[in-house]
Amino acid sequence: MCGIVGYIGDKEATPVLINALKKLEYRGYDSAGIAVLGKEGLAVYKAKGALKFLEAKISKEIIKGSMGIGHTRWATHGEPSDVNSHPHTNVSGKIAVVHNGIIENYAKLKAWLEGNGIVFRSQTDTEVIAHLLDFNYKGNLLEAVIATLKKIEGSYALGVICEDNPDQIIAVRKDSPLVIGSGVGENLIASDVPAILEYTREVYYLNDHEIAVLYRDRVDFFDADGTPVAKKTVHVDWDVAAAEKGGYEHFMLKEMHEQPKALTDTLRARIKTDSKRTINLEEIGFDASWAKAERVVITACGTAWHAGVVGKYAFEHFARIPVDVDVASEFRYRNPVFNPKDIFIIISQSGETADTLAAMRMAKKAGARIIAITNVVGSTLAREADLVMYTWAGPEIAVASTKAFTTQLMCVYLIALQFGSLRGVLSPAELAKNIEALEKLPAQAQAILDGKEEIQRFASRNFNKSKVFFMGRLFDYAISLESALKLKEISYTHSEAFAAGELKHGPIALVDTSTLVVAICTQTALFDKMDSNIKEVKARGATALVITYDDEHYFDKTADEIFRIPRTLDPFTPMLSVIPCQLFAYYCAVQRGLDPDKPRNLAKSVTVE
Ligand code: AGP
Repeated sequence: MCGIVGYIGDKEATPVLINALKKLEYRGYDSAGIAVLGKEGLAVYKAKGALKFLEAKISKEIIKGSMGIGHTRWATHGEPSDVNSHPHTNVSGKIAVVHNGIIENYAKLKAWLEGNGIVFRSQTDTEVIAHLLDFNYKGNLLEAVIATLKKIEGSYALGVICEDNPDQIIAVRKDSPLVIGSGVGENLIASDVPAILEYTREVYYLNDHEIAVLYRDRVDFFDADGTPVAKKTVHVDWDVAAAEKGGYEHFMLKEMHEQPKALTDTLRARIKTDSKRTINLEEIGFDASWAKAERVVITACGTAWHAGVVGKYAFEHFARIPVDVDVASEFRYRNPVFNPKDIFIIISQSGETADTLAAMRMAKKAGARIIAITNVVGSTLAREADLVMYTWAGPEIAVASTKAFTTQLMCVYLIALQFGSLRGVLSPAELAKNIEALEKLPAQAQAILDGKEEIQRFASRNFNKSKVFFMGRLFDYAISLESALKLKEISYTHSEAFAAGELKHGPIALVDTSTLVVAICTQTALFDKMDSNIKEVKARGATALVITYDDEHYFDKTADEIFRIPRTLDPFTPMLSVIPCQLFAYYCAVQRGLDPDKPRNLAKSVTVE
């Protein structure tokens, strides 16, 4: 999730581009760049790090030109660096492109281009677009763009300019947001509305597969084949702060709503959709040798550790391999026993958590091979691990992790299924059935978010509960842990998670009429066990909310309230059942007048021990 901008008008483009990029830094802030077309031709400036480094770099320059494009990056391919920053150009430097999204077939296109003598400067997927545009350019930039779109697969919002077409910017959208700002004598492109509100409130929203050609005095629209399309502007009356949150009240609510897209992005490039549905982890360098491990050890902190607990159930279920999962701060001091055939999966949204890095370095020193699951390209964890699988969730601003968690789960499931397939535990038919279920999850997550008012109402009746217990079995126990953490960290409610079978071994002593119990019930084979656990807590006066499938009536008589999620395969429910629990925590925090984005005493990345 990067931020792209573009300006064509009568003003000097550079200050407009920088100003607009500042409003998009919440979308990505690991490097930035601009390309401005002036009398001397195309001038490109790029810098690693936050936008201020680019500003410092150009502060010494006089960049003339009233047309240009810009980019602030959230790396997906290629570590943050000057050369990997956007804009990317063709060999002659006459064509420049900025991109937000993922080109899924970039490796194939890169090999073809290198076969035709192109020498790549960067490790990015985007650079293939600049060279393809060059190949297709015969004087008409729009035609070159249309021909290039026929070759690339994936998600993209593009801004394209060419030295030989100084009167136009071309913008394209597919599965990545892009708006066109319609001004007086000037027009702008941006990944999101905040970037252009200072210049105009008249906005065209591009639909997927639509192309815009911006001139100083008008904007023409086309479909992907070049057929003209009529569009109307929409008047936007948001203030910038609200716009940065995409109209949501808080980043946490926005990020919960980004989960369907984040799950799609994290899954799509790792599924081969040719004849048989299979998993493709070649991009991360994963091969059959990894599946020969004798044990999987997962270590992480906080929410990432909860993804590890789900991982334990997933690997044992799909790959029949023993799994140890441990919080990193314990692991690093318990003098763990290493086995030369161990592989370690280290999970961290930030890739910078001190305890997690220390645990990784211990395992590395002991000779273990490391797979990292992280959300930040170029993070310390990513740089030191043997293999890195990125959660393509985009920047996560709210301290409480939501979309990074569900995409960590998607990565864990993909690796576990691949292990199961390579170890012959899963037949090709079983693998295909599981992949089909994974592919349905983004839409199912969206369906839960569309019904959030029900949880909002439940929270408004229960936000003052002094004791909230989450309970479940197997995958549901793992999600109980995560749900209790969410409620604790943002609503400051004392909340605990129990393996439901553990209740009668002590915790049930805490249960009384002031207790709310949220029972997560999606493991079909254990419905009867969960039903009796719910009866046990209700007998002590607790209120019981059950989270179960939308077509499941097993708990109709037992539960006080039921929140229903779409049916999927039992092992995959964590990616769905956690969402109502995230929402519950969020609405309880809001009801208590707290700021869910900045909870007290917590930091987004814990880089100290
Ligand atoms: C989760 O909402 C918290 N922000 C916290 O528990 C977090 O998961 C933990 O600090 C680990 O962070 P990481 O994933 O960046 O390593």
